[in-house]
Amino acid sequence: MVTNEPDPKTIVYFKNRYMPLGEAQVGILTHALNYGTGVFEGIRGYWNAEEESVMLVRPLDHYERWKHNARIPNIEIPASADALCEITAELCVRNGFTTDIYVRPLAFKSAQRVGVSPDETDAFAIVAMPFGVYLDSEKGLHAGVSAWRRVEDNAIPGRAKICGAYVNSALATADAKRSGFDEAIFLSENGHVAEGATCNIFIVRGGKLITPGASDNILEGITRASVMTLAHDMGVPVVERSIDRSELYIADEIFFTGTAVELAPVTKVDHRLVGDGTIGPLTRSLREMYHEAVRGKVRMYRHWVQPVMVHEPALK
Ligand SMILES: Cc1ncc(COP(=O)(O)O)c(C=O)c1O
Repeated sequence: MVTNEPDPKTIVYFKNRYMPLGEAQVGILTHALNYGTGVFEGIRGYWNAEEESVMLVRPLDHYERWKHNARIPNIEIPASADALCEITAELCVRNGFTTDIYVRPLAFKSAQRVGVSPDETDAFAIVAMPFGVYLDSEKGLHAGVSAWRRVEDNAIPGRAKICGAYVNSALATADAKRSGFDEAIFLSENGHVAEGATCNIFIVRGGKLITPGASDNILEGITRASVMTLAHDMGVPVVERSIDRSELYIADEIFFTGTAVELAPVTKVDHRLVGDGTIGPLTRSLREMYHEAVRGKVRMYRHWVQPVMVHEPALK
């Protein structure tokens, strides 16, 4: 069974070498652990049985985003995006993965002392693990608008996956679950819809696909970009603009996108049905196309995947 809790024997990359996860430890005074000064990523890989390969989904785009966003808290990631893709492929081979996987790169301020002012001591790690469904959205999700507001760009920029900023997501997720929702929807301080706690949001109105723009306190999602391309290629108009809360209640369709959530239909918002309360036609088509594309099965989007042929696990 896939539990999303990796075995401590899983081989990871840390301190410039491969080692078991159980040995990849940090001290309790680590700057990032105390002050949230890390930047992480999330990448999926899908097992394609016909090709006996793990299809890493847009790893180069993820690593380029990671390196760019690490500049915000001034964390240096010395390896190139290409080299990081190679390390990730090597992790797949060394672990002999033959399942869907999730890759968690993490770069952080690693000094071990007290004091918030950071220095130049940075580290990074990459963990790859078997991974299953993150949010079961087969029947559609019930999302709730959170009382917590999305972090503002001038507080902690949400466009980077900064560790400390995920307190914002954790607070909203915990409250949403306690209130019986599957996922939280954040509004920005100005009252516009920003995104889900761990995903981007799209609505469909009048045959158009609408999503908040990059300046609406969102993470500029790679799945968001993929889905915008799919919609565009299907001839569906895609509009990036601010969305009012009340538009959620009158939208024909709503869905979330993200590496972990994939393309997740929302069929209820704040106890109101979205459309007729079933998964809408555009959501369904995009979801099916996304499902095939990220497994390397659609020629037109084949460049999105990096296939990693996994042989027998190498001797460790
Ligand atoms: C807050 C937030 N928004 C959006 C996303 C979706 O981004 P991506 O599609 O690049 O995974 C994530 C994913 O991790 C996220 O944490």
